[in-house]
Amino acid sequence: MQPGHFTLGVCWYPEQWPESRWRRDAARMREMGITTVRLGEFAWSRLQPARRQWDGDWLRRALDILHENDLRAILGTPSAAPPRWLLDEFPDLLRVDADGAVSAFGSRRFACLAHPGYARACVTVARKMAREFGAHPAVCAWQIDNEYGCHDTAQSWSARAARLFRRWLRLKYRDIGALNRAWGNAFWSMEYADFAQIEPPRATPAGNNPAHLLDFHRFWSARITVFNRRQVNAVRRHAPGRTVLHDFMGFSTGFDHFALAADLDSAAWNSYPLGFLARHGGDGGDGDGDDGDGHGDGENNARQKYLRLGAPDHAAFHHDLYRACGRGRFCVTEQQPGAVNWAAYNPQPLPGAARFWTWEAFAHGAEMVAYFRWRQLPRAQEQMHAGLLRPDDRPAPGAAEAAQVARELAGLPAEAFAPAAAAPVALVFDYESCWMRDALPHGDAPALAVYLAFYAALRRAGMDVDIVPPAADRADFTARRLVVAPLLFAPTDDFVARLRSAGCAALFGARCGSLTAECALPEDLPPGPLRAALGLTVLRVESLPPSFKMPVAWRDGDGDGDGDGGGGDGDGDGDSSGENHAPGAASHWREVIDAHDAQILAAFEDGGGAVLQRGDFFYLAGRADARLLDAVVARALRHAGVATARPPAEMRVRRRGELLWFFNYGARPAEPHINGEIILGETPIPPGGVLALRPNGPSGTGRPGT
Ligand code: GAL
Repeated sequence: MQPGHFTLGVCWYPEQWPESRWRRDAARMREMGITTVRLGEFAWSRLQPARRQWDGDWLRRALDILHENDLRAILGTPSAAPPRWLLDEFPDLLRVDADGAVSAFGSRRFACLAHPGYARACVTVARKMAREFGAHPAVCAWQIDNEYGCHDTAQSWSARAARLFRRWLRLKYRDIGALNRAWGNAFWSMEYADFAQIEPPRATPAGNNPAHLLDFHRFWSARITVFNRRQVNAVRRHAPGRTVLHDFMGFSTGFDHFALAADLDSAAWNSYPLGFLARHGGDGGDGDGDDGDGHGDGENNARQKYLRLGAPDHAAFHHDLYRACGRGRFCVTEQQPGAVNWAAYNPQPLPGAARFWTWEAFAHGAEMVAYFRWRQLPRAQEQMHAGLLRPDDRPAPGAAEAAQVARELAGLPAEAFAPAAAAPVALVFDYESCWMRDALPHGDAPALAVYLAFYAALRRAGMDVDIVPPAADRADFTARRLVVAPLLFAPTDDFVARLRSAGCAALFGARCGSLTAECALPEDLPPGPLRAALGLTVLRVESLPPSFKMPVAWRDGDGDGDGDGGGGDGDGDGDSSGENHAPGAASHWREVIDAHDAQILAAFEDGGGAVLQRGDFFYLAGRADARLLDAVVARALRHAGVATARPPAEMRVRRRGELLWFFNYGARPAEPHINGEIILGETPIPPGGVLALRPNGPSGTGRPGT
């Protein structure tokens, strides 16, 4: 895997199949156009059947076969699934949840990452693998562990974890009085006399102190990063020139992925669009009844509408997030090729969906997409999970689609592989804010739903989006025209100063600046350090049932200044803007604002400010629905001088190099809104179809090798 290249891959588990099939498997992968194979991440019991036994021969034979077939390998370290003998050695290695329930053997992720014996054994097995296979000619990359935090395991409440948590708190606060003050422990007599008295936040009759919850989150986030770093170091020493990555999980905010990825060469993530839709709905799970397509159908039918293709912005958001985590480099280590097994319901994808998802990842800059998995395994927990091959070894529908992508890839011109230029719009994503929202939900929408809603509005406006963390070393705003911070609870003074001096426009969502780093309200009221820049003070807030809509009307009568009612797409398929001249509504959350130095652009029915502006900065005082967000985003883009060309509803567009890529998430064929020379696909673009255009005339052909 390299920047500027793109390969197709597959996840292959030779230890689960007779060796007699391996050679044929590899040959068939090659025939299909697959060039990268991901393996090893669950094979601990086969590599090390007992503490003092090691059998790397079978893996060497598998890697040799891959090499003979000109296949490159991503080798995973197996720490997510420790073998039974390790539990015999350390009966206390089991993960404990908040209620005290102790995990059991017979699955994966049952070990507590704070257990020193388990952590050491993980480093040892990683080192052994790296020594033996680090320089194997087939191995191009190493994956550390598998999906930290998967199955809700980012934290453990074990005795070991408690001990380390106390040590972490002692280092952070030094003095127990400082901790008591920071947490506000004079409330309900919660003061501690010694760090030794502190427990991880467990079930309590009246909830935990948000500051306690937040510090536990921070502790665990740092812990996972250290756990990962130890394996990274062990592997790097013996794997010269190989890319080191971790495969993050979609819809997961349990730890700071930016921080963990700082130790890696590239980020990866695992993409299951239909599983995500079934689990989270169309918008990230806020249940506000909006499809997230800007139509304002007023009915939560996204699950049905996108049943076989996934929600339009779920995969794209994660591609952009992990491109940011990998500092420009990312890949998809697992791509759903058929039905999965783990959601409440598991539909078959639309014919063509696996191809569609692959090209979308490519358009967002992925270096590889690997399908999970090669052949459906007719045993154990994932026996209902589709692969490229059926259990009877015949091709499942995903196989033909992978082969089609491989053929299409061979025909792409070199310019298709150029990296995208920095986007004029940056979206600030902050893991700490996700934890703060969970520590203090107060009836608000889930953090990820908030981020996704803003992201989707930008994408509906036809924008490419770069996601950035708020940290100073990563978020240089000078090249941006518009910075969007959907949920940034505790911006630092430095963040605000950098933003102000960058001279770009900025759009903030409700609750930005509403907490201190200790998870307390700022005494001078929200938005804290943003108060001067935004020219407003949040006097009080309320949260409301998601179904309760608070209409918002623009003061100047038009949300985006172009007379279309603010975000209406004019395609007549269910858009209700003709009946209701209000540009949208808020739900879940509302703030009462003193706009002492800000202009009210749009107001709630009682006249209170809903959308406010001071200079280049905009603020939204409620959780906006898609229609209101579309109007606000259009307004902010116009103010920032960013030219927009709004694609048809349910079409998403992404620029990569010279090319424009169109993805039709709609149920009907649709024409692109921009003309150009067709490089891939056809017009009209069928449902689940892809189109690549060169809008500005031809340049060179031929492509870099993979
Ligand atoms: C992923 C995981 C894989 C497999 C897959 C099934 O989350 O990394 O090992 O379990 O889900 O969809």
